[in-house]
Amino acid sequence: MNCFCLSVAIWRHRSWLLAAIFLFLLLLLRQLTRQEILRLSPGEELLSLPRRSSPTRTLPAPQVTGRAGQEEQGGLSVVFLKTHKTGSSTVQNILFRASERRNLTVAFPLYSYQFAYPECFSRAFVEDLPPGALHFNLLCSHMRLHVGEVQAVMPSHSVYLTILRHPAQTFESVFHYYLNVVPAFQPLANHSSPLLAFLEASAEHYNAQDASNGLAKNPMAFDLGLNPGQEEAATSQWTRELERLNQTFQLVMIAEHFDESLLLARDLLGLDMEELVYVRLNVRHKKGPPLSKALAQKIQAWNWFDMQLYKFFQRIFWHKVERYGYMRMKRELDAFRALLRETVTTCLAGDSVGPEDMVDALRPWQPGSVTILGYRLKQNLTYAQYTSCFRMVLPELQYHAYLYYRQYGRDMRPLPTT
Ligand SMILES: *[C@@H]1O[C@H](CO)[C@@H](O)[C@H](O)[C@H]1NC(C)=O
Ligand SMILES: *[C@@H]1O[C@H](CO)[C@@H](O)[C@H](O)[C@H]1NC(C)=O
Ligand SMILES: *[C@@H]1O[C@H](CO)[C@@H](O)[C@H](O)[C@H]1NC(C)=O
Ligand SMILES: *[C@@H]1O[C@H](CO)[C@@H](O)[C@H](O)[C@H]1NC(C)=O
Repeated sequence: MNCFCLSVAIWRHRSWLLAAIFLFLLLLLRQLTRQEILRLSPGEELLSLPRRSSPTRTLPAPQVTGRAGQEEQGGLSVVFLKTHKTGSSTVQNILFRASERRNLTVAFPLYSYQFAYPECFSRAFVEDLPPGALHFNLLCSHMRLHVGEVQAVMPSHSVYLTILRHPAQTFESVFHYYLNVVPAFQPLANHSSPLLAFLEASAEHYNAQDASNGLAKNPMAFDLGLNPGQEEAATSQWTRELERLNQTFQLVMIAEHFDESLLLARDLLGLDMEELVYVRLNVRHKKGPPLSKALAQKIQAWNWFDMQLYKFFQRIFWHKVERYGYMRMKRELDAFRALLRETVTTCLAGDSVGPEDMVDALRPWQPGSVTILGYRLKQNLTYAQYTSCFRMVLPELQYHAYLYYRQYGRDMRPLPTT
């Protein structure tokens, strides 16, 4: 009897039941696809401080694409806020290659490689337009963001991009890279475990008033022009700041999902998939064990604002992936990763190597506190392969100096000595 009643009930509500089962399957599928995409692309990236380069004036001629030239001038326009130690050098290299290929005009710093970092960006820090150019198309050197001033330099239709990485990894990387540079870190330079020592006595070492300590606490928020060093700004103020950043940036990439991020950027910028190929630049030679959980937690507590920033934009990132379509993302990821493997096989003679094992032109700047790795190219590349492989592994300072020379016909200016 009971059994019969149940059957009747099931029959009567069959459409609801079917709908529920369908919904369940849909959610399951979405979760699975998401997990597929969630596979990390591991890697470590560092970036360099300004210094005088040995000028790079000539490179093998770039590959002719047929799409370079004036017609692109009004088109692509990008502002990439280059955050410290987040994978940003690799993104910059991709943008440099795209700009060279399309003969775009780059907004360079007046002096050296950065826009007077850690000062807030000002239009006065930008080199003049080269003769004949109507406006800049690309701005991607280090700065501390001041949105209004950037808007004064770049066309109004510019796409704004940046990249964030998990604060535990970012800060650990910043700390070791700038150990000899950031005043708050310097006293620990000879310590056996300097990071732990710093975090245990940070109040003693950290002076928020000194702008040179900008990277010593919440470095990503600092680069984005926020004031996270000043203690506990009102939460409502902070929320407004995050919303304002979300209005400014069409895409905030997430370093842990680097390839997905690039595919989203490609969609915004209209690049070919071939233009996204990369090898990780400015990678540090890692010594010792990975970050312990306890140390990671200490870092997160110290960089509270960066954690909020990261979590906020991570959520937005997944909304963007969702809107893009998980299946489409998965399909493109597979194609892109196959292309990446093929590129590595074509271009590179083995894994990344230390500075002593590479040619001068391809040696990245060494900060002293850590060893930065680079690449060796295969010996028997065709000329076309060589020109594109060479640019892909070219360290940022060399590429920057070369593009500056190409655009202005003279060497970059060194920092004025005061
Ligand atoms: C590249 O652009 C510059 C102006 O910015 C122009 O003088 C030059 O002729 C262009 N070259 C090519 C190949 O389009
Ligand atoms: C670290 O050691 C070097 C050389 O041994 C020395 O020159 C430097 O002053 C030391 N730094 C600190 C902060 O003690
Ligand atoms: C971020 O900005 C986008 C586009 O303006 C908007 O759709 C989205 O709701 C915003 N997200 C948050 C969390 O503010
Ligand atoms: C040269 O290229 C061929 C195929 O293009 C490859 O099989 C060979 O191993 C390469 N030799 C060297 C020394 O890289």
